[in-house]
Amino acid sequence: MIIEPRMRGFICTTSHPKGCEQNVKNQIEYIKSKGAIEGAKKVLVIGASTGFGLASRITSAFGSNAATIGVFFEKAPSEGKTASPGWYNSAAFEHEAHNAGLYAKSINGDAFSNEIKQQTLDLIKADLGQVDLIIYSLASPVRMHPVTGVLHRSTLKPIGSTFTNKTVDFHSGKVSEISIEPCSGDDIENTVAVMGGEDWAMWIDALKAQNLLAPGATTVAYSYIGPSLTEAVYRKGTIGRAKDHLEATAFAITDSLAAIDGKAFVSVNKALVTQASSAIPVIPLYISLLYRIMKEEGIHEGCIEQIQRLYQERLFTGNEVPVDEKGRIRIDDLEMRPDVQEKVAKLWVEAVTENLAEIGDLEGYRKDFYNLFGFDVDGVDYKAETNEVVNIESIG
Ligand code: NAD
Ligand code: NA
Repeated sequence: MIIEPRMRGFICTTSHPKGCEQNVKNQIEYIKSKGAIEGAKKVLVIGASTGFGLASRITSAFGSNAATIGVFFEKAPSEGKTASPGWYNSAAFEHEAHNAGLYAKSINGDAFSNEIKQQTLDLIKADLGQVDLIIYSLASPVRMHPVTGVLHRSTLKPIGSTFTNKTVDFHSGKVSEISIEPCSGDDIENTVAVMGGEDWAMWIDALKAQNLLAPGATTVAYSYIGPSLTEAVYRKGTIGRAKDHLEATAFAITDSLAAIDGKAFVSVNKALVTQASSAIPVIPLYISLLYRIMKEEGIHEGCIEQIQRLYQERLFTGNEVPVDEKGRIRIDDLEMRPDVQEKVAKLWVEAVTENLAEIGDLEGYRKDFYNLFGFDVDGVDYKAETNEVVNIESIG
């Protein structure tokens, strides 16, 4: 069929297999162009199908010739209905990995559940024996707790008082003021339950209990800090509490891995357009201004550039992993550069509907957003008949 983007609110309900495939191929080419990384060889990526997790899987496979197992939660295609983009990304990734002679298998289901964890452990046991790197890159609005059966929902709210600031509807380009009511009830606990570190620790405990962690194994989860502009709704809001918990969990996991000399890290990454970040108010305006400045300075990065740098310049240098005063790896260093933040803050004050296309990178934001779903990708023929039913080779 001819596949076109169909928008519903902040999400696109269709995706393009050829565009997703091209995105994956572009990321693979980028990693190959940067040369070999002396990294881990048997890698589990939890949240492997889009964003930072997909970039991690690609960097391990094509930078370090690693065998990868990817876990994700994506919608399979059916006749006349496209899959979610992560499905097509994973189909393309596996195809390219297998062509390159690399082991790659995928598991599609709820990573928070005991069943999917056990299925993953069984696969590691059968095929790889042990893993030496575990990337934890889930972004989800809900988590069904595997012990209590409670369905937790995360929120993106300020804590304590109403937050009022500018935001942009990046489809129309309209800049307006938005007020977000403070959280109430169990919002903080629920957000911590979904996006905090409990599930990460459960994964590592389960792997350890079944002797599936290689000596010296490393695990990395991703966090965000951002500027004071977005602090009320992000780092000092409900999601920030979850990130605090995630960061604290890294220390607990490292302690629990002392016997095998294992280590857990949180890497603080740059703000990027992903399905998760497009849904957060205020952030799209910030990102469109940030992109403009970082592109002007020649320091803009996407997920793949970020993760390539994480591996090459932080995790696998052969030396101690450099961390900040709170023990975190920082690859948001370019975003947080004082000169960059000063320029963004200045533009923030000036931004209105009439000038945003000019002073901000609204076009870049939109292109990145459509690219997430495989649309507006350079070199893809969108007028061509395209088969929406694409298999992931290891799933069939
Ligand atoms: P994303 O939405 O692109 O990826 C989320 C991944 O999680 C996908 O592979 C999805 O299939 C998987 N997933 C979601 N729910 C699942 C479930 N129940 N079971 C199995 N898999 C599930 O998100 P992203 O932006 O790459 O975020 C990954 C991490 O990076 C998050 O912790 C996020 O907070 C962090 N981060 C994001 C940004 C940003 O600007 N996007 C910046 C810094 C850090
Ligand atoms: Na991800």
